[in-house]
Amino acid sequence: MAVESVGVVGLGTMGAGIAEVFARAGLDVVGVEADEAALSRGRGHLERSLGRAVERGKLAPDEREAILGRVRLTTDRAELAGADLVVEAIPEVMAFKSALFDDLDRICKPEAILATNTSSLPVTKIAASTGRPGRVVGLHFFNPAPVMRLVEVVRTVVTEPGVAEEMAELARRLGKTPVVVGDRAGFVVNRLLLPYLNHAALLLEQGVATRDGIDTVMRQGAGLPMGPFALLDLIGLDTSYEVMEVLYDETRDRRHAPAPGLRELVAAGRLGRKSGHGFYGPEEAPAQAPPKGTPLTFRVVGDDELAGRLEAAGFKQAAEPDVLLHVGLAATGEREVRVNLVGEGVAEVAPSLHATAEGAADLMRVLGRTPVVCRQRAGLVAEALLYPYLNDAVRMYDSGYAGIEDIDAAMRLGCGYPAGPFEMLESIGLERVRDGLRELHAEYREPAYAPAPLLEELIAAGLTAFPRR
Ligand code: 3HC
Repeated sequence: MAVESVGVVGLGTMGAGIAEVFARAGLDVVGVEADEAALSRGRGHLERSLGRAVERGKLAPDEREAILGRVRLTTDRAELAGADLVVEAIPEVMAFKSALFDDLDRICKPEAILATNTSSLPVTKIAASTGRPGRVVGLHFFNPAPVMRLVEVVRTVVTEPGVAEEMAELARRLGKTPVVVGDRAGFVVNRLLLPYLNHAALLLEQGVATRDGIDTVMRQGAGLPMGPFALLDLIGLDTSYEVMEVLYDETRDRRHAPAPGLRELVAAGRLGRKSGHGFYGPEEAPAQAPPKGTPLTFRVVGDDELAGRLEAAGFKQAAEPDVLLHVGLAATGEREVRVNLVGEGVAEVAPSLHATAEGAADLMRVLGRTPVVCRQRAGLVAEALLYPYLNDAVRMYDSGYAGIEDIDAAMRLGCGYPAGPFEMLESIGLERVRDGLRELHAEYREPAYAPAPLLEELIAAGLTAFPRR
């Protein structure tokens, strides 16, 4: 059966984006909302998104009209009777979803496929609440849906043969890349992404660095498209909190307990972009400190090249310097500052308890790096956030849930990462990541920070890359 007409129920940010994606690919869409007010908000999302594309010259005005002409908006679910596929994107409350699927099951033709865009609830449970569990799947899009190229197709143990493949084919027709996976909490992307975001919220609470500092390290240093707090605001803090709850329920891994700071913000109604205020306020962008450039004497331990560059920039080496930099090493003594260079643009600067960060921060600015002041904790910010994520990816692969190529593609296309976790692991170096994980484990004694056995195994075998099948 070729899917030609699609229903989308729920026209919030995700639902409206999904409706746009289908209509852009030439399919007829029926968009359903609960009442007129919600419907008009949904229309607003759709018109703004297409309007922006026209403004940027990415879409001709007549194409926008054609796309809008393919979307019929209604508050009457009965209009879904003719749809070949219905995608649900309503709030993440199981009781709402069960009631909706019960309704859809009665309204839609028997051969229609019913899909959920849930980011956290079990697809199997939603399927089981209908009389056609074999034709219920997950179709998980990523925010912003018109931009992110991944669709996770989630099949359950009762999905009929061919249905997941048909949905994967449909995703390709939409210009997306499908990854077909089983029904585990968080699927691939949220299972790897959300614990990292939660961890960032914990580092902020522990005062390891500031909100702007952590975002700068991950965006400008690690090269991710957004820092964790900007991304939490995009996803929604309520959604993020719910996903963490569901992950924790399934894994009982205490790292998956939602960060208390998330709960506080959600309770205060600060849900991120959707409420106009989350970790960032409206119109607030990450701040950058202005360069100062104080003349200083210095000494560098652990990086001769850096010492050379500072000399070339006019600074003098001294036995008793103003600033003593330890590159990559823990600094302990008076005036010692640990410096960790992240990517091309950032330097984490972590003074010992007796020292201050300013002099080292100035030197880093002179070298064209944004300094981010951190407390001296294992892994500082970049490694503390990246390495456990890489380790989780290795464990996910080793569990048999998803293959290396699928995991890499999912993180690149679902989150806009410059590289997937296996690609990242290989470019940083397996041993370096393993050693970093050991350091994190030694400090925090967190069982999940122990290097994955498969990582240890590959290193013991002398391999520098994961064998692809
Ligand atoms: N709707 C439609 N289009 C949008 C958009 C939106 N909300 N936001 C951005 N765009 C488009 C722009 O129009 C632009 O299109 P063009 O290249 O054709 O002109 C393109 O996206 C790039 O936008 P900008 O230049 O304004 O901004 P950036 O280059 O900074 O990119 C971003 C913005 C695409 C959001 C990028 O920062 C990114 O990839 N961020 C990561 C997002 C991410 O990780 N999403 C997944 C979250 S997890 C999830 O959704 C799962 C859920 O279950 C929790």
